[in-house]
Amino acid sequence: MIAAALALLPLTLGVFASPLPDISARQIFLKPWCSGLGVGAFDVAYNFTLAAYNSTLPNSNTTGVPLVVGWNGATEEAELKVLSTYASYPYNDFPTFSMVNGTLHPNSPNNLSIVDNVVSDGDEPSFLQTNEPATAAQIYCGVADTDPAGGGTGFPELAVNSDTDSFFLCSTGDYRFAQNNIVYKPNLNSYSYNYSSCYPVKIQIIGLF
Ligand SMILES: *[C@@H]1O[C@H](CO)[C@@H](O)[C@H](O)[C@H]1NC(C)=O
Ligand SMILES: *[C@@H]1O[C@H](CO)[C@@H](O)[C@H](O)[C@H]1NC(C)=O
Ligand SMILES: *[C@@H]1O[C@H](CO)[C@@H](O)[C@H](O)[C@H]1NC(C)=O
Ligand SMILES: *[C@@H]1O[C@H](CO)[C@@H](O)[C@H](O)[C@H]1NC(C)=O
Ligand SMILES: *[C@@H]1O[C@H](CO)[C@@H](O)[C@H](O)[C@H]1NC(C)=O
Ligand SMILES: *[C@@H]1O[C@H](CO)[C@@H](O)[C@H](O)[C@H]1NC(C)=O
Repeated sequence: MIAAALALLPLTLGVFASPLPDISARQIFLKPWCSGLGVGAFDVAYNFTLAAYNSTLPNSNTTGVPLVVGWNGATEEAELKVLSTYASYPYNDFPTFSMVNGTLHPNSPNNLSIVDNVVSDGDEPSFLQTNEPATAAQIYCGVADTDPAGGGTGFPELAVNSDTDSFFLCSTGDYRFAQNNIVYKPNLNSYSYNYSSCYPVKIQIIGLF
């Protein structure tokens, strides 16, 4: 019944309120990277920034802590990047992000070539900066704050693997250098970050509206 109602809705709107909503809004229901995220989901947005907002700990404001593309290692051919707090990695080679059809793309003023990687449980969501051919993973989605009863901050949230609720900020601690990075479903036995330091956050999409 619900599926039938949803299928009917765009058709009705299409007749009476054309040209809105556009076709991409209708198809969002069919895209695996936005699956189950409801009517507020979107997978195309340009030139926004990201911020981490505490889910359980106190926040000093509704925006949250600015996130940037942080260093995480390099080979001769490529550099691996993660999402770090600007406070722990005070450089910003990629001042904004865009989301294109489920890929999350850091924008470089110097036209550096970078793609997002697949994210598994326990991973730091990461990016590969390389001049070799590389394919961006279609795994990201945005979700507008549509709760009329409030409770949200008003900013849209980022989802990976159609999940907005499993991001944490974790310290790399003594393992490498003191950087606070985003981790998806932290793993107790990771050598990449200090599990005990992790706390849950939402990733907010800033600057769209
Ligand atoms: C995003 O920013 C770039 C660089 O400033 C600009 O060329 C482009 O038009 C912007 N895109 C949108 C949709 O605002
Ligand atoms: C979230 O909590 C951490 C740890 O207490 C704190 O350092 C950070 O500033 C908080 N974030 C905001 C936006 O207040
Ligand atoms: C919100 O608070 C965080 C943590 O104190 C700070 O880094 C950030 O700049 C603040 N954002 C705004 C818009 O005031
Ligand atoms: C978005 O991704 C889907 C699945 O890979 C693809 O079929 C579609 O052509 C893409 N659309 C655009 C506008 O890139
Ligand atoms: C980046 O690419 C744009 C568009 O192709 C070009 O206008 C700009 O000059 C390039 N910037 C650099 C630093 O190469
Ligand atoms: C890991 O984090 C916990 C909690 O913040 C801290 O007590 C501990 O010293 C850290 N361990 C390392 C190796 O940095």
